[in-house]
Amino acid sequence: MTGARLRLDRIRLGVNIDHVATVRNARGGARPDPVRAAMLAIGAGADGITAHLREDRRHIRDEDMARLKAGILKPLNYEMAATAEMLEIARRIRPHACCLVPEKREERTTEGGLDVVGQHNALKPYIGELKAAGIRVSLFIEPDAAPIEASKALGADIVELHTGTWCHAVEAGDFVKAEAEFQRLKAGARIAHDAGLEVHAGHGLDFATAEALAAVPEFVEFNIGHFLMGEAIFVGLAQAIATMRNAMDRGRGLIPKAFSSEVVSGSREENA
Ligand code: PXP
Repeated sequence: MTGARLRLDRIRLGVNIDHVATVRNARGGARPDPVRAAMLAIGAGADGITAHLREDRRHIRDEDMARLKAGILKPLNYEMAATAEMLEIARRIRPHACCLVPEKREERTTEGGLDVVGQHNALKPYIGELKAAGIRVSLFIEPDAAPIEASKALGADIVELHTGTWCHAVEAGDFVKAEAEFQRLKAGARIAHDAGLEVHAGHGLDFATAEALAAVPEFVEFNIGHFLMGEAIFVGLAQAIATMRNAMDRGRGLIPKAFSSEVVSGSREENA
């Protein structure tokens, strides 16, 4: 019954603009500007902007976060490690939400979900501080019952289920693993929704995986970055976002396949 209601809702698309800053930082200077990308993304249909201020500032910098908060009219999702420094910045910036992620200096990107079970005692007061500042709290976790239940006990508003293992399996053509991971995400989304948590997903999503995952009714938001920025090199950011929007709406059953603009305009064939 709840599933039927949820299926009618469009999934929000949060666009992660970290890698605009990666390109900027490769040369120093101010261009390309991640805040300009955020504004363009919103104009093209993004429902929110995500940015990860890492401890090593490898892409987004402190001034980017402040400019994003001041410059965009849609929700800002601030990804960060649960450190004292980040808590202070979050209190100052006051984003719509903070998504707590694990962070290791040597990693290329966020690997694995946050250990919400093992870090319960440290996270409990930390989450309390964020909530006291009026910030919604999201926890980036593996799609399993234990971290989902621990997130609920910690007082999180949202869980963002890590889709990286599934997306890697799809990309590698390991369909047995991909199917098992998809089922894990589907079961996790159900457990989280039934626990009263808002359910997001992110990491490694592309047009095909976002479309497939959109069929799972409990998901209300996807956060997507690297793939969209890569596509933007070829088709422009607005087109990449429009095609993603279309894939998500099609996956959720809001656009009959035959009437999706991609098929009608033949753009898929042209771009192939
Ligand atoms: N969600 C979280 C919590 C992340 O850490 C990331 C990567 O920064 C993303 C979503 C976006 O992942 P991707 O860039 O692979 O789309």
